[in-house]
Amino acid sequence: MTNDIAEILITREQLQQKVEELGKMISQEYRGKNLMIISVLKGGVMFTTDLIKEITVPLEIDFMAISSYGHSTSTSGVVRILKDLETDIEGKDILIVEDIIDSGLTLEYLKELLLSRGPQSVKICTILNKPARRKVDVQVDYKGFDIPDEFVVGYGLDYVEKYRNLPFVGVLKREIYAEE
Ligand code: IMP
Ligand code: MG
Repeated sequence: MTNDIAEILITREQLQQKVEELGKMISQEYRGKNLMIISVLKGGVMFTTDLIKEITVPLEIDFMAISSYGHSTSTSGVVRILKDLETDIEGKDILIVEDIIDSGLTLEYLKELLLSRGPQSVKICTILNKPARRKVDVQVDYKGFDIPDEFVVGYGLDYVEKYRNLPFVGVLKREIYAEE
């Protein structure tokens, strides 16, 4: 599996340190609030489980699955809800936890959808951000790393469902997806 990686962009240690920092910031800013983490399946799950262990204020957690990609490496702009929340979010302080923001289309859609359900607030936390490919201007409230315009895998991110379990973030070799 690591043979398919051209370059390690962010190491396991760098990820760990950043997640601790983000957890501290979130713990301070959500003191006395009604924090509910919404983890975006499947890519956001590894980051979510690491992050919540660093948060010291009470929280609830729920999951949503949305798809904007199918099996390609670039966005189609079409967002589908594959799994909705199980909990009512009215009055809650929502923090959406994502693996990566690329075009921003997925997050823009998700944020608008959640805002229509009457929460107290909705903020966005992502471990990776690819500013070069942004198509819509979404506000990223907590962000781990800005990365260049490369297709990356690992730490939850996949290519056709593989590589999510790599403990680092790496650039996938071009020959792996060159046929598309
Ligand atoms: P956006 O709507 O273009 O911002 O796409 C966000 C979603 O696309 C993420 O949640 C990922 O699932 C996927 N994605 C975007 N860039 C990458 C990448 O470099 N590697 C793997 N998945 C990616
Ligand atoms: Mg994905």
